[in-house]
Amino acid sequence: MKKLSVIVAALMMAGSFGLAYAANVDKGKALFESPDLGGGTTGKSCSSCHEGGEGLGSDLFERKSFNFSGKDNMSLVEVINICIENALGGKAIDPKGEEMQDLTAYMKTLVTRSSE
Ligand code: HEC
Repeated sequence: MKKLSVIVAALMMAGSFGLAYAANVDKGKALFESPDLGGGTTGKSCSSCHEGGEGLGSDLFERKSFNFSGKDNMSLVEVINICIENALGGKAIDPKGEEMQDLTAYMKTLVTRSSE
């Protein structure tokens, strides 16, 4: 048991430094195109409104904070979760979870492409 809790603690620490998981762009693409992300209920996916990166600023990953939906000083993952809640009719996903990491990894490929 002691060993297990050491491993769990190590994983949690690695997680907070973003080391525990290598984001998967292909999975991220599937999530971006899935109306089920966050348990979505509107039948829309990110790509319904942001196909090929449309509406996503090319500086998306450089910006420190976002003004969005009447609030300022939001982080990118907060903006993403608002889109999940409002546009997909789903529930916010874990800001540090694997889905969010996959999703943002794929989005990165979109904004780099659209700025070329
Ligand atoms: C029903 C349409 C719709 C859907 C579906 C949608 N969004 Fe959005 N999203 C918007 C609108 C509208 C904006 C604000 C557009 C703007 O400022 O140009 C926006 C803005 C954003 C921004 C900020 C872009 C920027 O450059 O400031 C991000 C990031 C984003 N959405 C991510 C997502 C993700 C990820 C999903 C899927 C979970 C998603 N959106 C689903 C409509 C949508």
